[in-house]
Order: sequence, then C-alpha cells, then structure tokens
Amino acid sequence: MKKAIIIGATSGIGWELAKIMSNNGYELGLTGRRVERLVSLANAQPGKVIHPQFMDVTEYEKSRQTLLELIQRMGGVDVIIINSGFGQISSKWEIEDKIIRTNAHGFAALANASYRYFIDERDANGHIVGISSLAAIRGSGLATTYNASKAFISSYMQGLRYRSMRKNRNIAITDIRPGFVETPMTEQNDFMFWVAPAEKAAQQIYDAIQKKKKVAYITKRWAIIAFLMRLIPDFIYGKNG
Ligand SMILES: NC(=O)c1ccc[n+]([C@@H]2O[C@H](COP(=O)([O-])OP(=O)(O)OC[C@H]3O[C@@H](n4cnc5c(N)ncnc54)[C@H](OP(=O)(O)O)[C@@H]3O)[C@@H](O)[C@H]2O)c1
Repeated sequence: MKKAIIIGATSGIGWELAKIMSNNGYELGLTGRRVERLVSLANAQPGKVIHPQFMDVTEYEKSRQTLLELIQRMGGVDVIIINSGFGQISSKWEIEDKIIRTNAHGFAALANASYRYFIDERDANGHIVGISSLAAIRGSGLATTYNASKAFISSYMQGLRYRSMRKNRNIAITDIRPGFVETPMTEQNDFMFWVAPAEKAAQQIYDAIQKKKKVAYITKRWAIIAFLMRLIPDFIYGKNG
C-alpha cells in the first residue's frame, strides 16, 4: 500500500486531495491545527488507514519533529505533500509576518525535513510535493507578501530538485501552481475568474502527482495566464497586478 502525508488537510484543496488519495488506496497521515476535522474525515472513510495529527507549521522545530514521528508511526512514507498555506490581502505587518511564517519559513522547515528523510532513510526513493501558486510567477501590489511567499516555495522546490540532481539522487519534486480554487481561503475574494471547484483541482493535483510532474498548473489552462503574466510590461502590470 502506498503511503502519503498531506500537511494542511483540514479544509479546501488538502481535504479534497485526502479523500481522493484515500479512495485510491493510500494510507494517509493528515495534519492541521483543526485536528477534529481530520478525525471526522477518518471516521467518514471506514476501512481506510488514516492517521490524523495536530501540527502548527509556524512552530518550526516542533513541526519537523512531529513529521518524523508521524512517518515513524506510519512505518515510512512515499509522498509528502506540503499544502498548508495562509493568505490575506493586507499591508499590516502582523498579517505579512503570519504569511511569511506559514508559507515560507513553515514550508522550508518541512521541505528540508522531508528531503533529509528521503535521502537518509529511503535512499532518495521519495516524492515531495509543494503547493505554490500562480502567484509565484510575479510580484503583486495587492498581495505583495503572499506572492513573494509563493515565489519562495517555487524557487525552494526547484533548488531541491537541483540539489538532488547534483548528487545523482533523483527525488521527485512537484511544484503545484493553482490559479483560483473555490476554498475557504478564497471566500473573501471579490475578483476571480476560471474558479475551479476544490474537487476538480484536487483531482488534477492527484493526476500530476501520479505522473511525477515537475510543475503543474491547476487547472491546466492557467498555464496560458502564467505565460502572459511573464510577458506584460511593468507599466501595465504594475497598475493592475
Ligand atoms: N484556493 C486558491 O485559489 C489557491 C490558489 C493558489 C494556491 N493555493 C494554495 O493552496 C493551499 C491550500 O489552500 P486552500 O485554498 O485549500 O485553503 P484552506 O482551505 O484555507 O486550507 C489551508 C490549509 O492550510 C492549513 N494551515 C494554515 N495555516 C496553518 C498552520 N499555521 N499550521 C498548520 N496548518 C496550517 C489549514 O489547516 P488548519 O487551519 O486546520 O491548521 C488548512 O488545512 C495553500 O497553500 C494555498 O496558498 C490556493
């Protein structure tokens, strides 16, 4: 039986991905702060092996330790998906700080622990998946810190891929870049288009994981927007981005 851990599975994309992976026969370790939701998800999947685990990714050292303990409890893991994230449009430092602690520092702490686990314990036989965003492509005047944090995730994963290639240790690294997905995180957004239901986004993420893609836009057509985002000159983009 394949084993996977999803960091941040209590709602939205992580929640839907957990259901799909469980239905496809994965033994799962699921984490989040609202652990009672993970317990209810596990109870709703009778006969499936699910390990609910409390984790606050902003408690970096503790979350790394918790990840390793969860892996041990599961008797090993094949895929680690770091999906946890926070976003809010605000220039208040408390919000910016929370975004950086969750999306950048929290991500790096767990991606590093995952990489080390696959190198040290599994002879590089493993797969790390990070959920960045289309927001990783370019800076934003509105969601300045969120976009910067997602660029950090994308770049970190590219770096991990190169780090493993330099040592001829081919750990699979997948950078998932969603556009707009209907989840609690986007409930307050007033301007959105091509909004995908979380179930559809999770199914495409699952497919990208199975194919061990390096980068996947979710849904697929967001690759066109990513391409255009890179082309638009600053004097236009800056006024709208
Ligand atoms: N929805 C979109 O349009 C969209 C687009 C691009 C990228 N994304 C990314 O997709 C990922 C999932 O987001 P979503 O849209 O599904 O939103 P969501 O429903 O709000 O899910 C966020 C998940 O992250 C977890 N999380 C947040 N802060 C945490 C912390 N400090 N410690 C542990 N877990 C934490 C939450 O768990 P707890 O609150 O229970 O801890 C929850 O499970 C995020 O990385 C987001 O940036 C979303």
